[in-house]
Amino acid sequence: MSTLAQEYNAINLSQGFPDFPASEELISLVHHYMKKGMNQYAPMQGVLSLREVLAEKAYDLYGTYYHPESEITITSGGTQAIYTAITAFVREGDEVIVFEPAYDCYVPAIQLAGGTPVYVSLKAPDFVPDWEAVKKVITHRTRIILINSPHNPGGSALTRDDMKELEKIVSGTGILIVSDEVYEHILFDGLEHNSVMKFPLLAERSLAVFSFGKTYHTTGWKLGYCFGPANLMAEFRRIHQFVVFCANTPIQYALSEYIRNKNYMGLPEFYQKKRDYFLKLIGSTKFRYLPAQGSYFQLLDYRGYSDEKDTDFAIRLTKETGVASIPTSVFYHEAQDNKLLRFCFAKEDQTLERAAERLCRIPVPA
Ligand SMILES: Cc1ncc(COP(=O)(O)O)c(C=O)c1O
Repeated sequence: MSTLAQEYNAINLSQGFPDFPASEELISLVHHYMKKGMNQYAPMQGVLSLREVLAEKAYDLYGTYYHPESEITITSGGTQAIYTAITAFVREGDEVIVFEPAYDCYVPAIQLAGGTPVYVSLKAPDFVPDWEAVKKVITHRTRIILINSPHNPGGSALTRDDMKELEKIVSGTGILIVSDEVYEHILFDGLEHNSVMKFPLLAERSLAVFSFGKTYHTTGWKLGYCFGPANLMAEFRRIHQFVVFCANTPIQYALSEYIRNKNYMGLPEFYQKKRDYFLKLIGSTKFRYLPAQGSYFQLLDYRGYSDEKDTDFAIRLTKETGVASIPTSVFYHEAQDNKLLRFCFAKEDQTLERAAERLCRIPVPA
């Protein structure tokens, strides 16, 4: 969709990246550490000062202490952490439970490792898990349950009750959790993030994945990290070492200094304002929506305009209206069409205004 957006000069609300700049202070710190000569390989598990500050952060926010030496690894983005976690634990014939719609990097990683994805649907429009359905698909081959909260593309967030249900399902089994929490700081309306790290019975069997790109408006830097108990992290690192060996050095030093002041705390308000502004701007359109609970994506139901396939409508919207989005059927292995498009609102207000102006001009069928 980004390529099509470029070709048709459309406003690109499809791919999930901010169009506003990263902090000047953070960029100066990266520059500082480059000038200081921090330009060679970092330690395989990541720069220690960064792992230390992340251990403090996780303890402050989620109440569980992870040892920087043995329980935290810095990765080349959330995607590499997810790939590594899956590759470390999935073997031929293992099953991995994946909630659909699903972010696109999960299933290829499972299949490359010889595993089988087992799909459980999150029902539109609120995209909450049906734990009874999860229980029904568990077998002796279930190796991992993969969760993602706040959810892309659904915009939903797991509740404390969800986590308690998950705890009941996995306790007494050998099932591991891979928890994609890259939007941990993007939650709205006072909702709290329910990290697996808050729930000891989950934490002891979970690898939790995060991304600096989402929190610091730096998706192009591809830096993330993974928390997990020492026994799981040792296996994780056996793969990490031979996938990338280590992640970008000067950015790790810069972040270890920058995040000491806890400046990630402003994100919920910042993005909630964007979400609310975007929804206000498109208030007069025929799109229907549930406001996103988290992430920087908003789903819009376009049935007020058309019954055509979501891929067709998304392409037409890009070409004729000049706004690019993602049809949500691409997040399903069988292209389930819920007539929903995903729009990224991590954009400058002017970008949202220009997009909304165009969306407000879509002709309504007679
Ligand atoms: C749910 C989810 N997980 C993981 C990622 C990947 O994170 P990164 O860019 O750090 O690899 C993304 C990026 O869009 C995402 O939306």
